[in-house]
Amino acid sequence: MNADELKRAAAAKALESVESGMALGLGTGSTVRHLVDLLGEALREGRLTDIVGVPTSVQTERQALEVGIPLVELGSRRELDLTIDGADEVAPGLDLIKGLGAALLREKMVAQASRRLIIISDDSKLVSKLGTKAPLPVEVVDWSVDALQTFIESTGAHVRLRVDPEGHVIRSDNGNVFLDARYPKGIEDASALEKRLLYRAGIVDTGLFLGMPEAAVIAAPGGIFILTPDSRIPATA
Ligand code: A5P
Repeated sequence: MNADELKRAAAAKALESVESGMALGLGTGSTVRHLVDLLGEALREGRLTDIVGVPTSVQTERQALEVGIPLVELGSRRELDLTIDGADEVAPGLDLIKGLGAALLREKMVAQASRRLIIISDDSKLVSKLGTKAPLPVEVVDWSVDALQTFIESTGAHVRLRVDPEGHVIRSDNGNVFLDARYPKGIEDASALEKRLLYRAGIVDTGLFLGMPEAAVIAAPGGIFILTPDSRIPATA
């Protein structure tokens, strides 16, 4: 299977956790794209009924509407039953880095409003320590960004403003920009770093999702496996 087929396989497996009548958080990214596609198919074929979704980005919202998933506002429910989302890194304890798809704030808001969070990914996202493969995305207000960059650098990172291949600054759906923080030796104490970053005015949120998922559905060339917070991450990561 190629990388895209692995992502679809993880999405299909996670869809087995969806039951009729659920209010579902719909993540963002190329893996979730398969989930939205498969969920739309299941609704059209009547295998699932009475589902409502809360999208975590304009991109997911558009696709969900295209495939016929009824959408509601996050605030319309006291709690969502389940959110299914992708990740950029999955570490022991199912701590995550997310946000390379520029949707981390809405993803975190939706995940925190959900009783359950399931991550779908291929095995290339597994790491033994956060920050070893991906930079940490930090969503910041677009004012005095240089000052915020200097602050984030003081936590030991090399920091870059995220731009597209043509050099245009990338904005979130909330109008903010991203400082991507690369920690040369990975992130030693993610919880302490999260507190330090979030305490700083101007930082809107970070891509650290700590202790949130109940499971990660990982597709690997050898098949699908499920990780829980107690699982060991395979030694190859
Ligand atoms: C979006 O902001 C991210 O958190 C995505 O969930 C993450 O980038 C995973 O995307 P892929 O499924 O495309 O790898």
